[in-house]
Amino acid sequence: MCGIIGFSGRREAAPILIDGLKRLEYRGYDSSGLVTGTGGSLHLRKKAGRIAELAKEVAARPAPGTFGISHTRWATHGGATDRNAHPHFDTAGDIAVVHNGVIENHHTLRNQLQADGVEFRSETDTEVLAHLISHYYEGDLLAAVKHALALVKGTYGCAVVCRHDPGVIVGARLGSPLVIGIGPDGHYLASDANALAGYATQVVYLNDRQIFQLDQDSWVIRNQDLDTVDAPLQDIEHFLGGGDAELNGFPHYMLKEIYEQPETLANAMRGRLDDSDSTAHFGGLNLTSQQLRQIDRVIMTACGTSYHAGMVGEYLFEELARIPVEVEYASELRYRNPPIDRSTVMFAITQSGETADTLAALRESKRMGHTTLAICNTVGSSIAREADGGVYLHAGPEIGVASTKAFTSQSCVLTMLALYLGRTRHLSSVQGQAIIDNLRQLPEKVRQTLGCHERVKGIAAKYAHVRNVLYLGRQYLYPAALEGALKLKEISYIHAEGYPAAEMKHGPIALVDADTPSVFLVPRGSVFDKVMSNMQEIKARGGPVIAVCSPDDEEVASIADDIIPIPDVPEYLQPIIAAIPLQLLAYEIALLRGCDVDKPRNLAKSVTVE
Ligand code: F6R
Repeated sequence: MCGIIGFSGRREAAPILIDGLKRLEYRGYDSSGLVTGTGGSLHLRKKAGRIAELAKEVAARPAPGTFGISHTRWATHGGATDRNAHPHFDTAGDIAVVHNGVIENHHTLRNQLQADGVEFRSETDTEVLAHLISHYYEGDLLAAVKHALALVKGTYGCAVVCRHDPGVIVGARLGSPLVIGIGPDGHYLASDANALAGYATQVVYLNDRQIFQLDQDSWVIRNQDLDTVDAPLQDIEHFLGGGDAELNGFPHYMLKEIYEQPETLANAMRGRLDDSDSTAHFGGLNLTSQQLRQIDRVIMTACGTSYHAGMVGEYLFEELARIPVEVEYASELRYRNPPIDRSTVMFAITQSGETADTLAALRESKRMGHTTLAICNTVGSSIAREADGGVYLHAGPEIGVASTKAFTSQSCVLTMLALYLGRTRHLSSVQGQAIIDNLRQLPEKVRQTLGCHERVKGIAAKYAHVRNVLYLGRQYLYPAALEGALKLKEISYIHAEGYPAAEMKHGPIALVDADTPSVFLVPRGSVFDKVMSNMQEIKARGGPVIAVCSPDDEEVASIADDIIPIPDVPEYLQPIIAAIPLQLLAYEIALLRGCDVDKPRNLAKSVTVE
C-alpha cells in the first residue's frame, strides 16, 4: 500500500523514479509525485490519478537532477487530489517527505504546529512530518528526522530530502518496508525490491526503528541511538521472486496470473514431495520432529483471500492430520488475547508478506513465545523475515490486485503441510502416497480446467448486468465460495456473498429472485446430495443457478441454468480446481462492465496500514 522509490547517483533521477513507480503502481494508484534536486533547488511534480499522469507532467515540465524521492499513493488521510499527493513540503519549501503508513497522532501534532503558526497545504497525515523535520533541522537532516519521528505514533516507511543537503536522502522504517539498493550508478531506496530490478545489484533491508542516510557514494543504517548498524548486503536476485513481471501478451496481469496456475502449482510442489517416505518435506520450517509431533492445535491468521486459503487449511489439517485448527482474521487476532498454549503453532498466511494486520498478529504471537510460521510468497518481506520459519509459495510476483495464483498455491502448500503433519500421526504410507499422486496431477487438472474459459465468457455475458450474486458451497467448497464472491465484488463492483450452501435457509434466501443468480459449487463428493437439495431450494424460488460441477453431470445439468464442468479431483483438492472458473467468471464480468481489472477502485495490492 503506497510505494516509495528514491535515487541518488550519477544519472538523471526522474526516469528512474518514474520507472520504479510504474512497477510499484499496483501498491496504490490514487496519485503520485516526485521531487528531484539540483544544487540548492528542489523540483516538485505531483498529480492525482495514475503514474501515466505524472509521467505526462514530467515530460511537459522536466524535473532535473541526479537525486530524488517519489511516491505512489493509496489515500488514507485526505482524498486523492494533486494537493494530497506526496511529496509534502515544509513551509519554506526546503524539506520534502514521502511516507507510507499512518501517523496516528497527526491531529495532535497538526494542532500543535498550527498553534505555532504553521499553515498546512494538504489534508494528509504526512505533512506534519515535513513541518516537524523542518522544526528540528539545524544542518543535520538525519538528526532532524530522528527527532521528528520520536514524536510520531503510528507506522512509517519514509524518505526525506532537503534543499541544503544536495544528493542526500534520509529515511526510516517502523512497520512499513524499506530496502536500500546498491548499483553501479548510485544508491537507491524502495518500499519493494522489485522496483529496483535492473538498477541495483545488491540490497539491504531496514528493520523497524532503523534510520538510513545515503548519497551517490555512500550509505549507512543507524539504530535509534544513531549507532551504525551492521547490515548484510544481499544479492537482489534472491528477492525478485523468480517469476516474470511482464504481461507476455496477456491483456491483464490477472488473466496472465490465472493462466500461470499450472506452473505456479508445480513450483509450489517442486522438490517437496517424497515417494520414499510418502510425505512432503520443507526446508524452512525450523521445527524438530519432536516439536512437530507435539503440535496439538494450529491457529491460522490472515486477511482477505489468504484468510480464505486459511479456511481451506482448516478443513485440510483437521481431516488429514487430525489437528484442531482455528482461523482468525489477523485484524481481530492482533487485539485479542486468546488462550494459546505452548503446543499451539501459529501460521501467518500472506502473499505479500507485508500486510500490516498479519504482521502485527505474527509479532504478537512471537512476543508471547509461540512458534510462528509463515506461508508467504514474497522472499525478503517483513513477515518472511520475522517468522520463526515457514514455506514459500514460489508463485512469482502477483501483480494483479485481485489475488489468484497465490490462493491456489497457498491451498496447495497447506495440503502438503497437512500431509506432512498427518504422516507424523495417523496417516498411513498408502494414504500419504495417494495424496502425493493426486497432488502431482494437479497442474494438469488445472490446465484442463482453464479450458472452461470460453464457456465462462458466455455465462459472464448473460449475467454481467446483475447487481447481486450468491456463491454457495459446502465443506471444502465453502471457503471457495467465499473466495469466488470476493473475486467478483472486488473487480466488478457487483455485490456478492459467499455462504455455506445450507445456511441460505437462515436468512439470505430472502435475497433470491430472478435477477439474483447463485453460483453453486457442486462437484461430486460426500455432500453432493445435500448441495443438490440446496440448489433445488433456490430454483424453487425462481433464482437462476450457475453450477460448477463434475464432467457430464446430467443431474446437475437438468436443474442448473448454466453449468461449468471441472475435472474430478479428491475433495481436499476441489477448492483449487473450483477457484479457476470463479476467477475467470469475475474477470470476464468485470471486463464487460468496463472495470479496471488489475487496479480496481479503492484497493491496493499490499495493505500496509491497519
Ligand atoms: C483479494 C486480495 C486481498 C489479499 C489481502 C491479504 O483478492 O488480494 O484480500 O488477499 O489483502 O494480502 P496478503 O496475502 O498479501 O497478506
